[in-house]
Amino acid sequence: MSREFTKTGKTNKGPFEASVSANRQIGQLFYRLKLDFCDTAAEAFAAARPGQFAQLDLSRTILPVPEDIPDNLRDVARRNIVLRRPFSFCDIVCESEKTSVEILYKVVGPASLRMTTLSGGDLISIIGPLGNGFRIPDNKKRALLVIGGIGAGPLQHLAKVLTEEHSEEEVVAFVGARSAKELPFEGRLDDIAQSLGFSFREFAKYGINSIVATDDGSLGHKGPVTECFEQWLGRTRMVYEETIIYGCGPEEMLAELVRIASERGIDCQVNMERMMACGIGICQSCAVKCRTDDSNETVYKLCCEDGPVFDGREVVFNL
Ligand SMILES: Cc1cc2nc3c(=O)[nH]c(=O)nc-3n(C[C@H](O)[C@H](O)[C@H](O)COP(=O)(O)OP(=O)(O)OC[C@H]3O[C@@H](n4cnc5c(N)ncnc54)[C@H](O)[C@@H]3O)c2cc1C
Ligand code: FES
Repeated sequence: MSREFTKTGKTNKGPFEASVSANRQIGQLFYRLKLDFCDTAAEAFAAARPGQFAQLDLSRTILPVPEDIPDNLRDVARRNIVLRRPFSFCDIVCESEKTSVEILYKVVGPASLRMTTLSGGDLISIIGPLGNGFRIPDNKKRALLVIGGIGAGPLQHLAKVLTEEHSEEEVVAFVGARSAKELPFEGRLDDIAQSLGFSFREFAKYGINSIVATDDGSLGHKGPVTECFEQWLGRTRMVYEETIIYGCGPEEMLAELVRIASERGIDCQVNMERMMACGIGICQSCAVKCRTDDSNETVYKLCCEDGPVFDGREVVFNL
């Protein structure tokens, strides 16, 4: 599909108007928001890659009724939403005139709480797609997706793109959360499907096995997903040069993932999150400390423009 260019030669990033077509609750604090775009916006979002994101304006979205506000958010719920909020995409579907983008989100504060009241036909302003997504090299035979909690969104999108564009690659997903309730998926498959390794529909629909870990052991491996992943690597034969790891989740998880990858010489890309004020490279609030290729010096890169996806080897983690 051709892309729309502004006079400066840059891809048009809006602001665009999105129309809400669905907003489904899939867990206590998890929702999937579906937005439809037409015209120039449809073209811009049809070209979006997994790991890219958009800035949503939720300032005029209403609060839920008081009984639907979680206790831990009662104090902050009424705060004004001055800044747009960044969200990545868990799915993109292109039809002839329309592009639909789905966002998997967790209710954590005033803006995401307001998002829950969006319903069919509501209009919101959105800037995007922004940043650089995952780069998919042609020389890999195996892609390992490692997910912590709400990091599931962009890796669901990546799973779809890998299946469509690199169908020869074997893909396995590792998903972790504090407990079974904190897994942002729509439910587990039946016992037969699970015995074959297909745990979650979101990956099974692409023929991808998903292996589960929870910190409290309420589902799957008891312990961090990186521990489960490292044990799996230890008992699985593969050529590391032909393997790539893609990660999205909390920073401690990504740091551990990069350690595991580096020790084995496996390529690894990590989807970083930073607090973002502008999302377009102006405010400098989203700096990520990075190593340079050929010296011990470090530089600061911008998560919104240079990322949010980085080569794992370059990131100096903030732990
Ligand atoms: C590139 C990018 C992509 C994202 N994609 C998704 C997504 O697909 N789904 C989703 O649910 N969330 C995603 N997020 C996080 C989302 O932007 C925040 O949860 C959002 O700002 C929440 O707004 P709020 O007003 O509800 O809560 P806030 O009051 O803004 O935040 C609630 C709490 O979360 C912390 N927090 C907020 N944003 C971040 C951040 N970026 N890094 C670390 N801590 C943070 C705050 O410190 C605060 O303690 C993404 C963030 C980035 C940077
Ligand atoms: S969020 Fe403003 S520079 Fe990155």
